[in-house]
Amino acid sequence: MKILAIETSCDETSLAIVDVKDGYKKKGIPRIKVEKNIVLSQVKIHSEFGGVVPNLAKREHTSNLPIIFNKISGGKADQMMKKIDLVAVTVGPGLEPALWTGITFARDLSKKYGKKLVGGSHLQGHLYSFLLHKKFKSPDPAIFPAIGLIVSGGHTLLVLMKNLLNYKKIGETMDDAVGESFDKVARLLNLPYPGGPEIEKEAKKGDPKAISFPLPMVNQKNYNFSYSGLKTAVLYYLKNLGSNKNNFSFSPSKNKLSQKTKEDTAASFQRAALGVIAIKTARAVKEFGAKSIIVGGGVAANKNLKKLLSDRIKDGRLKTDIFIPPLKYCQDNAAMIALSAYFNLKQKKVIKLEAKGDLNL
Ligand code: KG4
Ligand code: ZN
Repeated sequence: MKILAIETSCDETSLAIVDVKDGYKKKGIPRIKVEKNIVLSQVKIHSEFGGVVPNLAKREHTSNLPIIFNKISGGKADQMMKKIDLVAVTVGPGLEPALWTGITFARDLSKKYGKKLVGGSHLQGHLYSFLLHKKFKSPDPAIFPAIGLIVSGGHTLLVLMKNLLNYKKIGETMDDAVGESFDKVARLLNLPYPGGPEIEKEAKKGDPKAISFPLPMVNQKNYNFSYSGLKTAVLYYLKNLGSNKNNFSFSPSKNKLSQKTKEDTAASFQRAALGVIAIKTARAVKEFGAKSIIVGGGVAANKNLKKLLSDRIKDGRLKTDIFIPPLKYCQDNAAMIALSAYFNLKQKKVIKLEAKGDLNL
């Protein structure tokens, strides 16, 4: 089945063509080939505002969609659409004005070319994007039960997966998402948006043990997370630094931080933010006897997160496999939306084709 997928939930406009075959039906894992996956990022436009501006995102998606469609079809839309079996589009979660641009575009395509239109979930997409990993060219169903970990700018979720179609959320963040906390702390350190890669870069040069930030909710016997307190702890640490003492209106642009402070704060914050994820994920693996850890979402691009989990596997504390998609599929992309729509179709799940900002997993 050839799927044309569209993703516009946040600040990346993306179109993909993915061929999904039920080749491994008995094993439950399909054979997947991403034929094309084009992503146009709006990061530069939003970075001057320090975060994504919904109406700007809408405007950019509206102008980007026809450009990418033209690119993906090589200017031969009719010819390409003849080969497409299904149009897939993200319905949520995300920014509603942004989601609507994709849904409207997908609806028009589906009508014009008489193709079935199926909704996809951005969260499911992140959860399934490990299937785009090269290891899955020869899939092995012995990966289940698995612990799924979705870590992005909008979500921090732990999921127990019995198989690809049967899963349930076992924990989530109570406030900020982990990616959001990277973005907010980056702002405090006067680093550009998006903050995740910037913090990771600074952290490499810093000492992760220089400042002991708290690992939020680490001792609570549940799989929930909290990041707003950690961000506040970083803010107070910066406020209370020698030269900033008694400065209650700390502002990243006004208060000059030394390069060493930036590096050590980034490294220590990253250690706390990712450490708690590794600890809770490992606990879930043990409690549910998971055979693998499946990671997805923008923060999955962070090498330290991979190391924290892989080290536990290497030294025998965890007896699991780990799947992290290649960088381009950690970040928002339309290929993963094709997978979500495919599995929704397989399960005969009917998803209303309207934007749902807070669509749950
Ligand atoms: O999945 P994604 O592209 O979009 C959402 O669905 O939110 O994730 C974006 C988030 C941003 O908060 C960004 O700062 C974070 O992922 N991120 C990272 C890294 N790369 C991106 N966080 C930590 N380390 C990274 N290397
Ligand atoms: Zn995402």
